[in-house]
Amino acid sequence: MRIMHSHWLFGLLSTSTGILGTPLVYDTTTGERDTTFIVKHSWSGTPKGWRLHSEPTSDHMLKFHIGLKQGGIDEVIRHLYEVSDPAHIRYGQHLSKEEVDELISPTEETTATVSEWLQSHGIHYSDCYASSAGDWLQLTVPISKAETMFNTQYHIFQHEKTGEYTLRSLNWSLPSYVHSHIDVAAPTTSFTRTRSMKKTSFLDPHVPMIDDLSGGLSTSCSTSVTPSCLRTLYNTANYTPTATNVNQIGIAGYLEEFANFADLKTFMQKFRSDAVNANFTVTLINGGANNQAQPGIEANLDTQYAGAMTFPTPNIYYSTGGSPPFIPDDNTPTNTNEPYLDWLNFISNQTTIPQTFSTSYGDDEQTVPEDFAVRVCNGFAQLGVMGSSVLFSSGDDGVGAGECLANDGSDTIRFQPNFPASCPYVTTVGATVKTNPEQATSFSGGGFSNYFAQPSYQASAVLAFLTELGTTNQGLFNASSRAYPDVAAQGQSFQVVIGGATGSVSGTSASCPTFAGVITLLNDFRLSNNKPSLGFLNPLIYANPSAFNDITKGNNQGCGTNGFSAGIGWDPVTGLGTPDFLKLQTLLG
Ligand SMILES: *[C@@H]1O[C@H](CO)[C@@H](O)[C@H](O)[C@H]1NC(C)=O
Ligand SMILES: *[C@@H]1O[C@H](CO)[C@@H](O)[C@H](O)[C@H]1NC(C)=O
Ligand SMILES: *[C@@H]1O[C@H](CO)[C@@H](O)[C@H](O)[C@H]1NC(C)=O
Ligand SMILES: *[C@@H]1O[C@H](CO)[C@@H](O)[C@H](O)[C@H]1NC(C)=O
Repeated sequence: MRIMHSHWLFGLLSTSTGILGTPLVYDTTTGERDTTFIVKHSWSGTPKGWRLHSEPTSDHMLKFHIGLKQGGIDEVIRHLYEVSDPAHIRYGQHLSKEEVDELISPTEETTATVSEWLQSHGIHYSDCYASSAGDWLQLTVPISKAETMFNTQYHIFQHEKTGEYTLRSLNWSLPSYVHSHIDVAAPTTSFTRTRSMKKTSFLDPHVPMIDDLSGGLSTSCSTSVTPSCLRTLYNTANYTPTATNVNQIGIAGYLEEFANFADLKTFMQKFRSDAVNANFTVTLINGGANNQAQPGIEANLDTQYAGAMTFPTPNIYYSTGGSPPFIPDDNTPTNTNEPYLDWLNFISNQTTIPQTFSTSYGDDEQTVPEDFAVRVCNGFAQLGVMGSSVLFSSGDDGVGAGECLANDGSDTIRFQPNFPASCPYVTTVGATVKTNPEQATSFSGGGFSNYFAQPSYQASAVLAFLTELGTTNQGLFNASSRAYPDVAAQGQSFQVVIGGATGSVSGTSASCPTFAGVITLLNDFRLSNNKPSLGFLNPLIYANPSAFNDITKGNNQGCGTNGFSAGIGWDPVTGLGTPDFLKLQTLLG
């Protein structure tokens, strides 16, 4: 284990040997620490869908992420809105990693107090991995110690439907004196299913498989989607990328999903023969693997469509480990099942990062504690302010799957938004089907967050929708919060090569790399004209709805309702609509 640089670390090392730091860290009135535990987060009962299974052994080792309170995250958000607003004088003036690190670095008081708290449990700050900004620490401790540190008990829970296990607590607390200096600790109370963190794609067995249809928008694009359908529909077919020495797209992969090289080649031979030399590189994060004997549906879908939309732009596939099946009686140091954090911590520690990211994973927002969701969402804002566009699938359950009972102990029915789709600093992509005209798929995830307030960039678009909606679905969602999706793209019956065979895959998983592919080409256009990348997209796209094909048909049923309906203007089914590359290019020229 090792630490990162940073000026204050030297102070800390001294603190732990007792040379420095006392004035910073002791209460001036009493001269003593207030060590009363105060709850950070607590569930009122076992979260919906899980049951208590058994107790873990107390010497089981757990890897923790501790999120120290960031110094100037509000400043980061202020910068984000300025540099992402096309009407602002600072549009496109993204911050460097060093500038972001400087803003988010915890205050010396925060670092010293956290260090003292760790020390009180026999842990040296210097034995933890710190992020370059010092805002995240990683440490591995036995469960017994974690239970003392967080005044809680860990239990093994089993998911009722899938049978998978997770190791979590129902609440966690911190001593009063350190309470405000730590935002999150994981794993604690987040029940996001990472092993099956909803993989938003599914093999669609009902659609006949169709071979190549070269050129033009074939009528078959209504029932079977290939790269040529998408490149024609969204007007990218005649654009050839040139900024391939600087521009990149990153595809996030989790859950032991491996993207296959040979399948990509077969796919290109079949569906985009001018791109048979397309390839991607694989970056392994947190013990992620690259098993070419085990092609994943999601991974192949993402890499094949991102590649076909963006060739010859470099594609990076991130294989993030940390979510193998958790085995209750296995004593090996365990995965923490928090792979978003491992991915974010890895990406935020890089000096250069791709200008576009596509992620096709998510889960119900209510499985994630609010403070945890806020902290992860702020991590995406950090990528945006550095000039990257962060895109997520909106989910495949319309307004919510199953009974849609709220987790807050009230047992009331509420629409179930998805996270990270509901984060205001990402661009969320819903799904369409058919052509002339395209319409919403019934599964397209959409709705309103229960955590995040409505950002101003979408206020007038959402208000117009709500005015038209009237009292429909009243009480099932919060009309004053972040609404999504922002945009949409085709998402049904994508032809994908898996293990050499062609199959048909549907889901907003297909929509996300497609839309991200269009953004990657726009970034290419910007960069090849010596302009900065697009970065956080939402203020730009809500200011220019006419650059999208408005989708006005279809609805996203769920929770025993018809969900919301697509209509003129923005709607929580297809957002502003599907992209028109030529219009967007004109806008950004
Ligand atoms: C951050 O990057 C530095 C330099 O590449 C590396 O030494 C360090 O281990 C990284 N830290 C984390 C937490 O990934
Ligand atoms: C925390 O959860 C445990 C069960 O794991 C329970 O016994 C305890 O009362 C809870 N504490 C708080 C503060 O909610
Ligand atoms: C793609 O890259 C992988 C890993 O670098 C390599 O093994 C494979 O041969 C490449 N495929 C093509 C078609 O270049
Ligand atoms: C609705 O969302 C707003 C903005 O986040 C929040 O202030 C309000 O408390 C929420 N209302 C309910 C009933 O949850």
